Amino acid sequence: MRIDVVTLFPEFYESPLQCSIVGRALASGALQVKLWNLREFSHDRHGKVDDTPYGGGAGMVMSPEPFFAAVGAIAPGGETPVVLITPQGETLTQAKVKELAARPRVVLLCGHYEGVDERVRTGLATEEISIGDYVLSGGEPAALVLVDAVARLLPGVLGNEASTEDESFSDGLLEYPQYTRPAAIGGREVPELLKRGHHAEVRKWRRKEALRRTLLRRPDLLARADLSEEDRRLLAEVAKEEKG
Ligand code: ADE
Repeated sequence: MRIDVVTLFPEFYESPLQCSIVGRALASGALQVKLWNLREFSHDRHGKVDDTPYGGGAGMVMSPEPFFAAVGAIAPGGETPVVLITPQGETLTQAKVKELAARPRVVLLCGHYEGVDERVRTGLATEEISIGDYVLSGGEPAALVLVDAVARLLPGVLGNEASTEDESFSDGLLEYPQYTRPAAIGGREVPELLKRGHHAEVRKWRRKEALRRTLLRRPDLLARADLSEEDRRLLAEVAKEEKG
């Protein structure tokens, strides 16, 4: 998969793209990330990419032309999704990450300052994505979040393919508690059942604890999760235990 990032700060990505899973995805060729400096698409002699807002007011607005010129140059033809990274976008979910990871190519546009000229949204972006209800100083960290979340889903990137199936959100639930050695630390013990290591029992315990965690922390997720009969039984047990 190829991701094109249009940004005022390509240098922001230097180190994060070399680390960990994303670094591995790039090294293996499963992922290609192309960084484009928006300033190089400026029509202005001085590389200006923003201007004062029509109607007055504080701050600057990012000009539309450099964005149109950049997308026209790097992804002409209109088949590639063009994602404007903005706090006004649809909040990113694992389902959205999966959808993007299935595309051969995606262009990400990073905004800055007070905002981006509305015509970038209406005439260029095919969708808008936010990474949550808080305001960053620019779209770069948000685009990096998206690159990371997508990279780890690409075929061959994670060693153990099962691990994306097992984790938080992949089935709409939070993950069960995990333990490793030592068996006790500061009086806190690993649950006996896990130490016994009986496969079916462990699986059931994990499912129940995933349901407990989701019920206690994110009941909104539970309402949307695809639950089996067995899940509902376990959930009823959990609800009773938590009340009692
Ligand atoms: N730009 C500034 N804040 C943002 C956010 N929360 N998500 C996406 N882009 C942003």
